[in-house]
Amino acid sequence: MTERSLLVVVLAAGEGTRMASRLPKVLHQIANRSMLHHVLETTRQAGATRVAVVVGPGRDDVAAEALRVRPDAQVFVQEERLGTAHAVLAARAALEAPVDDVLVLYADTPLLRPETLAQLRAPLADGAGVAVLGFRPADPTGYGRLLTEGAELVAIREEKDATAEERAITFSNAGVMALRGDKALSLLSAIGNANAKGEYYLTDAVEVARAAGLRAVAAEADEDEVAGVNSRLQLAEAESILQKRLRRAAMAGGATLIAPKTVFFSADTKLGRDVIVEPNVVFGPGVTVADDVVIHAFCHLEGAHLESGVSIGPYARLRPGTRLGAGVRIGNFVETKAAQLDAGAKVNHLSYVGDAHVGAGANIGAGTITCNYDGFAKHRTEIGAGAFIGTNSSLVAPVTIGAGAYIGSGSVITDDVPADALALGRGRQMVKAGWAAALRLARGVAKG
Ligand code: UD1
Ligand code: CA
Repeated sequence: MTERSLLVVVLAAGEGTRMASRLPKVLHQIANRSMLHHVLETTRQAGATRVAVVVGPGRDDVAAEALRVRPDAQVFVQEERLGTAHAVLAARAALEAPVDDVLVLYADTPLLRPETLAQLRAPLADGAGVAVLGFRPADPTGYGRLLTEGAELVAIREEKDATAEERAITFSNAGVMALRGDKALSLLSAIGNANAKGEYYLTDAVEVARAAGLRAVAAEADEDEVAGVNSRLQLAEAESILQKRLRRAAMAGGATLIAPKTVFFSADTKLGRDVIVEPNVVFGPGVTVADDVVIHAFCHLEGAHLESGVSIGPYARLRPGTRLGAGVRIGNFVETKAAQLDAGAKVNHLSYVGDAHVGAGANIGAGTITCNYDGFAKHRTEIGAGAFIGTNSSLVAPVTIGAGAYIGSGSVITDDVPADALALGRGRQMVKAGWAAALRLARGVAKG
């Protein structure tokens, strides 16, 4: 099965008018990844040897996303919208090159699993000409109905062309089709447009195949997996189905989610074993977490890498470019950005560490701020291993604090501090004995 070559044709020409958006529908995201990206990732996992993406006229943005995700994809433009078979034939040049199996997918159906595609393709290896993915929606209105006789698929009838009897069938066309590679082009080319919509229906490939003496069969998928996205509401529903899957996968991989429904993942989030995630945590794109990490409640992470034994939060915000070495501790109301913290460093309370490198075991006191921006450019802060930054310090970058140095609390540090030195950058304290009592006496008020 896996040795069979596979061409996937992805129809990505959906205009998405019901999304009420400037963005083309297939570029809307679920789990921080475009729907088109999801479909292309699924086809990669399904072993696609080649991918053709059919886009609408002028959709350079969709083409660019396809090529970003899969640089070897062939992009085709369907100039006129004349039906799903016509759309597939826009990729004629891709279909002309020899291939064992062809799969047609819609880019607005992002929840398909590679296992299901493998199951759909299987009958092609046994000589079937066409295989169609069916499902049984609670309400089949609008879907093509699958007319079957035993294991054979006889035809797909579009709702507008169906008799009352055919409309009563609930087994519906999910829109995913597998075709034998050596027959695909001839089958698709034989499809006409004599139907209620005057369109070239991909679904007619079933009857065309049977007329040519080829078998057509149907596989069945869960409704959740074939859910198409045509509106913001359906986008949110797809998000929720995907989040459920991602939470399950995280737990299956050895992470404890104390309140799974309150944790939101990105499609690319990676968690190690024995990671504990407390309630209300959001993983933005590009987060990898090693083993034995604790993420306390209400943390937001994005573009961050956490080594083993790290603990963050509650209420920590890790922004892109954050790298936390083994055993690093990030406490409440701490924000990091483009910051490398080496093993054992601690930033426990109310700090901003940006464009910075913090050496191993350094301790950053409460309220420390790296002043990385002067209104024009960003500058770096270097803090050496084992340094101690007293609370409420401002480190005005570019600045370097040497290893083992001490910074007195409340300092504003504008010059480099050598290793093992003490730096104080604050007004010297003045004490005037009896001053307050004298003031009260002058004003004629008693203490308290
Ligand atoms: C199609 C199927 C129907 C199935 C349903 C599942 C056909 C004829 N019908 O119906 O059996 O139950 O999907 O959702 O295939 N597209 C193009 N170019 C075109 C026409 C369509 O690229 O000229 C793309 C659309 O953007 C969309 C997909 O093909 O992604 C399906 O087209 P749509 O018009 O929505 O088909 P349905 O009527 O929903
Ligand atoms: Ca549709």
